[in-house]
Amino acid sequence: MTDEPVAREQIETILDAVRWAPTAGNRHLQRFVATTDPGTLRVLRMVSPGMIAKPTAAIAVCVDHALVAEYGFPPENHGPWIDVGTATATLLLAAQAVGLGAGPVSSFSRAAVGVVLDLPEGWVAELVVCLGHPAPDQPRAIKPARLTWRDLTHWVP
Ligand SMILES: Cc1cc2nc3c(=O)[nH]c(=O)nc-3n(C[C@H](O)[C@H](O)[C@H](O)COP(=O)(O)O)c2cc1C
Repeated sequence: MTDEPVAREQIETILDAVRWAPTAGNRHLQRFVATTDPGTLRVLRMVSPGMIAKPTAAIAVCVDHALVAEYGFPPENHGPWIDVGTATATLLLAAQAVGLGAGPVSSFSRAAVGVVLDLPEGWVAELVVCLGHPAPDQPRAIKPARLTWRDLTHWVP
């Protein structure tokens, strides 16, 4: 990603798209924390060993566990975490649509990210999505999988 700042309007467009992601029971138990602050991003990288990119913006996709409990989802219900996935996929597509590069990161200290982002009680960050203007001709950090849809699919009967 380049050093060019990400416009706040681009982030707002992305967040507006993310609210349309499907959620279990239409409950919307995810919350999002956005930042473009260079100091916050620097500290975020320090507590995220898996954050290879140097983003100029980031959105943390959080689960609000107070809401999860309030709605009565039992702890073994996977819905809130699946919804983190649908929200993140929508976020990545929206970032692409506004011309930004984006990459999810899960390798971080949840406790430290909670402190850095000043998360309210009960919110836990599950993924942090790095955002920035894509730098041209960057090597891929992780080798791309060479899977076809046939490798991934089983037809029945
Ligand atoms: C749940 C999840 C966790 C991820 N965590 C990290 C991470 O900690 N660090 C990282 O660089 N990429 C992370 N990624 C990004 C994947 O490595 C990336 O999507 C994959 O390598 C495919 O890359 P591509 O989209 O460029 O093809 C994560 C992706 C997902 C879905």
